[in-house]
Amino acid sequence: MLRTRTCGELRTSHVGETATLCGWVDKYRDHAGIVFIDLRDRYGKTQIKFDLADNSEIQELARHLRYEDVIQVTGEVVARPAGLENPKLDTGSVELLVRDLKVLNKSKTPPFEPDGQSVPNEDIRLKHRYIDLRRPSIQQNLILRHRLTKVVRDYFDKLDFLEIETPMLGRSTPEGARDYLVPSRVHEGTFYALPQSPQLYKQLLMVAGFDRYMQIARCFRDEDLRADRQPEFTQIDVEMAFVERDDILNVIDGLVAEMIQAIRGEQFQLPLRRYTHAYCLENYGSDKPDMRFGMQLIDIGDIAGQCEFGVFKQTIAAGNRVRGINVKGGADKYSRRILDVDMKALVADYGAKGLAYFKVTGGKLESSIAKFFTDEQQQAIIAKMGGEEGDLLLYVADTFKVSSSALSAVRNRIAREQKLFDPNTMEVFWVLDFPLFTWNDDEKRFDAEHHPFCSIHPDDEQYLATDPGRVRASSYDLICNGYEAASGSVRIHDPKIQQRVFELMNISNEEAEQRFGFFLDALRYGAPPHGGIALGLDRWVMMFTGGDNIRDVIAFPKTQKAADQMTGAPSEVDARQIRDLHIKLDVKE
Ligand code: AMO
Ligand code: AMP
Repeated sequence: MLRTRTCGELRTSHVGETATLCGWVDKYRDHAGIVFIDLRDRYGKTQIKFDLADNSEIQELARHLRYEDVIQVTGEVVARPAGLENPKLDTGSVELLVRDLKVLNKSKTPPFEPDGQSVPNEDIRLKHRYIDLRRPSIQQNLILRHRLTKVVRDYFDKLDFLEIETPMLGRSTPEGARDYLVPSRVHEGTFYALPQSPQLYKQLLMVAGFDRYMQIARCFRDEDLRADRQPEFTQIDVEMAFVERDDILNVIDGLVAEMIQAIRGEQFQLPLRRYTHAYCLENYGSDKPDMRFGMQLIDIGDIAGQCEFGVFKQTIAAGNRVRGINVKGGADKYSRRILDVDMKALVADYGAKGLAYFKVTGGKLESSIAKFFTDEQQQAIIAKMGGEEGDLLLYVADTFKVSSSALSAVRNRIAREQKLFDPNTMEVFWVLDFPLFTWNDDEKRFDAEHHPFCSIHPDDEQYLATDPGRVRASSYDLICNGYEAASGSVRIHDPKIQQRVFELMNISNEEAEQRFGFFLDALRYGAPPHGGIALGLDRWVMMFTGGDNIRDVIAFPKTQKAADQMTGAPSEVDARQIRDLHIKLDVKE
């Protein structure tokens, strides 16, 4: 080893010892001819001191050290003079009095200082990711990621799960995104698809009798990226045979408790709360509500249908909904301009035509539309909304779908602006009983809400033939702080039902055979009842770090445009490579 100690190790108990440290020059100060440097490595920082009037050669070398040079130093551990300790550093009570210095690598002037006061913009950070990754906060994120992954593997190992790898080069699995394709050189004109998830493989492992499978699995999806989405991400992928829904939920409850215990040191109350999909949409307008705060949606349809405000009245007459939220004490926090312009634009993004509002003042409603409501109707609204002096009431009148998503967006924005929640809490719960299908009006067919292998809710089998839109799936999501943190289902293990579901999705028998024939076949050779789930590992790490950018928990992430700023991927390749793959490019100049 080139060192005897790390930069995070030395304490008062080491005073008097000779130590050799290696690391990066983090801070450089020259005080009256004495050079002080903070030397940094993954374990921490140690102050080193060059107080060597008698050794001009080292003194000279030290004077030429700059940020991010890599050096090796040997010297004596000494206590810092009283009053000069640095309580911010774990090593702050000591320093190393350097006797020997070796420059292992001179650094060019870095584009930014990894531990500088200000964090540069993300493009620069991602271009020089190896420097960005020296930032202690990002190193902590990746260390946490390692620990979490280990906790997960140990947990499943104890429960007899086997980690089994599944292929990267495979056939397209329908998770609803576009596939990343890999052309085959050997089989002209054909392509592998990178897995959107190991979904079919893990089900086949159940058919094969492995019974309890898990994998820390890489998944690839060519879809629009957001702060919580990467084109290449990692799932904690799980599948179990001979189980019912609650068996799977219980195993994952235990995992969540174990993760929270290991990372946050907190006992977690089990079982996790369970809500239905219908309940969440009705009361929060979202199937992944942030439950760190209240401000639930309240229906005022009975009053809205009677009032003289045309928009409300017509909405109810058309069989749609008028719902709203009560922003406690919000009356003087949101100006007319913000409500009429900003908030209106926000709800318009979700298809809503407007946002109606009232302020509760002097026991009555105050608003440009208040005149359309009788005194009694105003009192009824205030009572229903739990309104008090100074509250702000906001409403969207529209279809269930539009009013849900628009109000959910308003609710989230206001909670963020008004700091209605403690960013350090984790609110984890289940959402159950999603619909099996969503109607795709463009294509005039049903799409699978999750994926086409979810089994049908036992109470709803009767509707499969008569009213497929009403059928619920035996599916579940795990929600944390408004993020979808996991998703899964009990699977169909009867090939006849599987075929029926494909039919409703307008996938013909021939197409089903062609795309999933191998899988339908497997279901005919003794498939046990089975089910599973996948947790988004990156999202869990992000939530545990308290961050909101998934790129901060991935060593080498892609940008919003799915590019790697550092390596320049995706990039052009040799004409020869393209020819070998039997591909002709048709690229606009
Ligand atoms: P699903 O598609 O819901 O289910 O994915 C499971 C979980 O993976 C995370 N996730 C993502 N994280 C980062 N970037 C992305 N692009 C991304 N997409 C998904 C989410 C999500 O809840 N095969 C099924 C699981 C099953 O049924 O067992 C599946 O992949 O946290
Ligand atoms: P208008 O009658 O268009 O002047 O609208 C009066 C108020 O009702 C404005 O604040 C609008 O934003 C609001 N409004 C219009 N349409 C809707 C709707 N569908 N739901 C809720 N508020 C609406």
